[in-house]
Amino acid sequence: MAIAGDYPDVVIGCHGGGSNFAGIGFPFVADKANGKQVRVLAVEPASCPTLTRGVYAFDYGDTAKMAPVAKMYTLGHDFMPPGIHAGGLRYHGASPLVSQLLAAGVIEAKAVHQLACFDAAVLFSRTEGIIPAPESSHAIRGAIDEALQAKEEGKEKTILFNLSGHGHVDMTAYDDFFAGKLTDYEYPTEAIRESLSQLPKVE
Ligand SMILES: Cc1ncc(COP(=O)(O)O)c(C=O)c1O
Repeated sequence: MAIAGDYPDVVIGCHGGGSNFAGIGFPFVADKANGKQVRVLAVEPASCPTLTRGVYAFDYGDTAKMAPVAKMYTLGHDFMPPGIHAGGLRYHGASPLVSQLLAAGVIEAKAVHQLACFDAAVLFSRTEGIIPAPESSHAIRGAIDEALQAKEEGKEKTILFNLSGHGHVDMTAYDDFFAGKLTDYEYPTEAIRESLSQLPKVE
């Protein structure tokens, strides 16, 4: 805040398992607990909608069931994510701390589609000269949507988002996007229901 000379109305991070989101968002959650007016928003892919379509339940942290069972938003530890380009956002669960904050209504979450994310990433590259990682493009999509909404409402909004990585190793994804080879994918409800039936039984 000392550098920017401003304080955000909304703080946005992309969400895979939650560490990147927690890094940008949790300091503001602390401010919020002390009375500051600030929204903290996690943006995840619609193809791996852990926070927006998962359940808040006890589950394993990994497919092999080696990680401890913890309460988290989950799509089920055997959830099989589709091969979207934001590979880092395909984890079945969410960190227990992020999950607890979402369940308590302290933070918000939304899911966005792959093509809308690449649109945002290309716009960002052309205006800022930085090619973002496909994972980061989810936060950029979230920030652009907040800005568009503020514009529509005639409000001024300070939006902070985390550009979590560059896309220099993801140029194939951009190639595929420009070649029209990418599609949107909404994870089917039936497949989520199937995975959730495998949750461990915890009294
Ligand atoms: C560039 C980038 N940003 C963000 C993330 C988000 O990860 P997490 O939510 O697990 O911290 C990843 C994960 O691999 C990533 O590669």
